[in-house]
Amino acid sequence: MTFPFVIAIDGPAASGKGTMARRIAGEYGFVHLDTGLTYRAVAKALIDEALPLDDEKLAEEYARRVDLSTLDRDALSTHAVGEAASKVAVMPAVRRALVEKQREFSRTPPGAVLDGRDIGTVVCPQADVKLYVTASAEVRAARRTDEIVSRGGVADAAAILEDIRRRDERDMNRADSPLKPAPDAHLLDTSEMDIETAFRAAKAYVDEALAKRNGG
Ligand code: C5P
Repeated sequence: MTFPFVIAIDGPAASGKGTMARRIAGEYGFVHLDTGLTYRAVAKALIDEALPLDDEKLAEEYARRVDLSTLDRDALSTHAVGEAASKVAVMPAVRRALVEKQREFSRTPPGAVLDGRDIGTVVCPQADVKLYVTASAEVRAARRTDEIVSRGGVADAAAILEDIRRRDERDMNRADSPLKPAPDAHLLDTSEMDIETAFRAAKAYVDEALAKRNGG
């Protein structure tokens, strides 16, 4: 029996890794999990019940209850939930509980795409393809600002940039599973690359790994 094919996509907030992951999954008919939603689900459950965000035992309990099949992207995508998610994500017990579920998901045949911060380094270190999608903080902030404005919202560009920097700082410097590229990850810096070019580059890496699997 061959093992399901696994594609790990990591990168900082607003790097475009989510869009990339969805497109890759669609292209190859693989299942997709945005692991950020799992941390967000824990944070939202705690916020909804007015519980503290820094009680590890309690947060672990909520992490164990997360059901990957009912994650509601719209309800989880608010700014406050994202900020709270990066706080619960520093707690090792929360990470252990969620990583277990993410690993189980990664074994879905015929293949799975997982995106997050620690997929190539911790969740699926044996992934067939590892991509690290990044862009400068300025470019990421500008993209997020445009996205909000194009949906008819009002965006404070300076506050968004500050926010992205704060989230990077927390995600890259935490003790447990900090955000960093796996040594064998392909780096895709999209600062000066449009989504189409980035997708074609990613697809070439996946095709190469698939050919290797099929050939040997
Ligand atoms: O990617 P997203 O913004 O939805 O993630 C929310 C937060 O969840 C991140 O800032 C990060 O702290 C945490 N996270 C993580 N590990 C992952 C995915 C997300 O620590 N694999």
